[in-house]
Amino acid sequence: MTIRPIITAPDPRLKQVSKPVERVDDALRALMDDMLETMYDAPGIGLAAIQIGEPVRVIVMDLAREGEPPEPRYLVNPEILWKSEELATYEEGCLSVPEFYEDVARPARCRLRYLDYQGEIREIDCDGMLATCVQHEMDHLEGILFIDHLSRLKRQMMLKKLEKAKKLDRASA
Ligand code: NI
Repeated sequence: MTIRPIITAPDPRLKQVSKPVERVDDALRALMDDMLETMYDAPGIGLAAIQIGEPVRVIVMDLAREGEPPEPRYLVNPEILWKSEELATYEEGCLSVPEFYEDVARPARCRLRYLDYQGEIREIDCDGMLATCVQHEMDHLEGILFIDHLSRLKRQMMLKKLEKAKKLDRASA
């Protein structure tokens, strides 16, 4: 398992639409292992493959609280089968948008179909944090960041600050 660098906004790679996975094999499991390790190291609760530069429809998540045993989840080719009309608002952050947090409203519940680590088809009902996290991560597969759900003004302000931080990083490297 390898910790991989996480791509941060603004970066055109994050805007790509990720491709469906054809087969859940050892190579894909190795990618999922790297993703999980990268996410734990960050630390974060969810990561899409594109965030480490792999444009494939794969997500890892772990919503266990601190002190609880880890609960890694692997979602390959996830599809939302149903979403509630009712919305829920959570403060979201993203490993690709470091240090910014904002409220985002999304469907409060959803039904999800995906392939698991072994390539088995699964369906689950999601609510609470799980529903929000699944939808946030699935947005990444379409090239969408949580800041794309905010006003244009707010988004541009964040992107400007992120760009400035990257320049400072490069200058001090
Ligand atoms: Ni994210």
